[in-house]
Amino acid sequence: MDVLTLPAYGKINLTLKVLGRRSDGYHNLSTIFQSIALADRLTFSRCREGIRLETSGLPVPQGPENLAYRAAARLQSRYGFPGVRITLKKQIPLAAGLAGGSADAAATLIGVNALFNLGLTPGQLAREGAALGSDVPFCVIGGTALGRGRGEELSLLPPLPTLWLVLVKPSFGVSTAAVYRGWDASPGQTPMEAPDEERALAAIRRGDRAGIMASLGNDLEAVTCRLYPEVMAIKMRLLAEGAERAVMCGSGPAVFGVAADGETARRIASRLQETYPETIVTRTL
Ligand code: C5P
Repeated sequence: MDVLTLPAYGKINLTLKVLGRRSDGYHNLSTIFQSIALADRLTFSRCREGIRLETSGLPVPQGPENLAYRAAARLQSRYGFPGVRITLKKQIPLAAGLAGGSADAAATLIGVNALFNLGLTPGQLAREGAALGSDVPFCVIGGTALGRGRGEELSLLPPLPTLWLVLVKPSFGVSTAAVYRGWDASPGQTPMEAPDEERALAAIRRGDRAGIMASLGNDLEAVTCRLYPEVMAIKMRLLAEGAERAVMCGSGPAVFGVAADGETARRIASRLQETYPETIVTRTL
């Protein structure tokens, strides 16, 4: 194999509970991750030496600040291969809570492993990913999964009935670390709708869309909305335009609205696009 192209799917969190701060500064979570169709695209080919990253689409760094670069560098130093050229077409909004950087890192682990026949199993790739970021192991596995610990202890769940989503991102991004610091400052804050993980798990196992919809929620939403009130305004706007639910993605600031079907999602998106040009229609995988 000389060239390999892979999609790198973003994610949302159907439920996200913050259980508490750990002694290493991270936070223990319990979260249901869900892959979405919105994806970056990465192409991998061999080169004589080094790591060459070329990007197009949304602007991202081309050096070691890029998680895809770091993923390739990690496999190169630990398992050895001459060199890889990576082209990244960036489409997932940055610093949005959609795990765009983590998805690129995961695709790079998978792509480099395949291109150079390194022989790592998906479980080993997920463990390599945990050293790069808390969401990378999920992005290696994909689909629907319960994440514990920092998010890296994963149990697979059955696929969801398709949910049509309107993703809305304000013009700014947020730092995940800053949001968790905000949680530390006032840990008891409850979001507008508390996540109901048990109900969500039961509903996912039954394929019960209404039950899933009723259990969505994100503990970090209250923190990010306090730091950036525009996130709450986006939630309200999505609901006013006809979304059945509107919940923040990860540490934010993007919000996903759930629509009854694809046509409704496109109608809601066209209204939101007037204010928020980075509005995207997608669906769960
Ligand atoms: O693991 P990742 O690089 O995505 O995390 C970025 C930052 O977010 C961490 O440095 C930490 O401050 C915070 N974080 C956390 N608990 C998690 C995940 C992330 O405190 N479970």
